[in-house]
Amino acid sequence: MPKIIQSIKAMQQQVKTWRKNDHLVGLVPTMGCLHEGHLSLIREAYKHADKVVVSIFVNPTQFGPNEDFAQYPRTFEEDIEKCLKEGVHAIFNPTIEDMYPVPQTTWVDEEELSKGLCGASRPGHFRGVTSVVTKLFNACLPDVAVFGQKDAQQALIIKKMILDLNFSIDMIIAPTVREYDELAMSSRNLLLTAEHRLNAPQIYQFLKQIPKSNVRSTRTLQQNFAEKMSAIGGQVDYFSVVSKDSLLPIEEIEEENTLIAVAVRMGPVRLIDNIFI
Ligand code: PAJ
Repeated sequence: MPKIIQSIKAMQQQVKTWRKNDHLVGLVPTMGCLHEGHLSLIREAYKHADKVVVSIFVNPTQFGPNEDFAQYPRTFEEDIEKCLKEGVHAIFNPTIEDMYPVPQTTWVDEEELSKGLCGASRPGHFRGVTSVVTKLFNACLPDVAVFGQKDAQQALIIKKMILDLNFSIDMIIAPTVREYDELAMSSRNLLLTAEHRLNAPQIYQFLKQIPKSNVRSTRTLQQNFAEKMSAIGGQVDYFSVVSKDSLLPIEEIEEENTLIAVAVRMGPVRLIDNIFI
């Protein structure tokens, strides 16, 4: 059974005990409602660490006032079962009061990579992410932390934060895990209507055909994507062709170093996906 640890002090104590025995500690930060995508990160963590901690915390500060914090699916009992099957050593599951005991006036804010894509449509989102990941790093003191490529911008921002703030943590980015019909796995998929769930795989079907097609203009691709999404009841939040390192926009797709990232609203649910060219 994984140890379920709520307090930051107890978590730090546990890691210090492991470290005394020269164990390397891996952290997989999550907001719970665990699926195969999360589990693949746990398996990756085991390749690099002796003890694996999964944090489960739905972080209020990364949700905007009109976003789905209250609706975000919470499935703690099932999550424990899944962690047990994966051999996870500890689940760090703080309360909001544990993580934010006093009104917070100090934040971690990445100022470049956070501007576009999800940062443009979700103001303050990445400040919440970088701040909470810093807190999770301070609570779990990992040697290695694993994040998913599914959230490509988040991964890049955290990588930069680790560099900028001299965290002594090796970061690993693991590939996106998909459903049988290639929809990127996401805790939010559970919130889709049956019809939207049926059509949502078209997001990745569109992305996947781009390298094979001869359309190279970002504008044309944006128009084509918007039409396709509108036909299935989706509304494009953004379709961005950017340099994979700087996230700066690219007008014509280049052979290398291009990231195409999209966000689509289907009803109240916002889905993201991406592909590297
Ligand atoms: P959450 O959405 O729960 O995702 C936790 C981790 O799982 C992230 O690193 C995410 O990229 C990864 N992940 C999600 N779906 C995946 C998939 N289909 N394949 C591979 N990896 C996938 O991202 C967050 O939580 C939060 O922002 C967090 C970093 C925990 C900070 O609160």
